[in-house]
Amino acid sequence: MNTLVPVIAVDGPSGVGKGTLCQALANHFNWHLLDSGAIYRVLALLALNHHIALNDELQLTQLALNLPLTFDTHHGEVKVLLNGVDVSKDIRTEETGGAASKVASLNQVRAALLQRQRDFRQLPGLIADGRDMGTVVFTDAPVKIFLDASPHSRAERRMKQLQDKQKHAKFAEILQEITARDERDRNRAVAPLKPATDALIIDTTSLSIQDVFNQSITYINEKLAL
Ligand code: DC
Repeated sequence: MNTLVPVIAVDGPSGVGKGTLCQALANHFNWHLLDSGAIYRVLALLALNHHIALNDELQLTQLALNLPLTFDTHHGEVKVLLNGVDVSKDIRTEETGGAASKVASLNQVRAALLQRQRDFRQLPGLIADGRDMGTVVFTDAPVKIFLDASPHSRAERRMKQLQDKQKHAKFAEILQEITARDERDRNRAVAPLKPATDALIIDTTSLSIQDVFNQSITYINEKLAL
């Protein structure tokens, strides 16, 4: 592990605004960005496409060890490529998110993806977005932030995102999906979603994106003595 490279670990449940915050932080500092959820989503997409059961730990671990996945960054926009094919949109569906949460509950799968995530730790620094960035993957990160928000407000944000993309969605279904995914992510035996003991917890329920960014920047500057 390259402990000389600073990491800002940002964890939290789905729909809490992590992705937006992490992208803004990566732009602000001009650091690398790890979207760890995208890795689990790509694995889940492969499993769905190849009809591999989402609890088949052996096969999924083999797939995880050889995942033909690359991130392609152009003008601040990140494309997720699977076997060279752009799957950025396919991995964002509710189905893939739910499946990602299932494959992510498997111990061997998580172990197989650990080094791949740590390899993102490159100079000048890394913004790491996920569920266990501060508790497992980068335990020595000098800055750890945990975003949380009520399931209702997260479902509302998700609805808005879908509506912006002209996609039809039912609020009750989104809320149920978010609650089920939370339940699984928070209660799994391995690397459950929880704040690191040394994390700053920000409740984003009634905060704007700008508020969350400002609070984070103030904290980061203090921690890194910038
Ligand atoms: O952040 P996301 O919604 O793209 O993540 C999809 C799923 O992947 C999430 O429900 C749980 C899992 N995940 C995880 O277990 N650990 C991570 N570091 C990131 C995501």
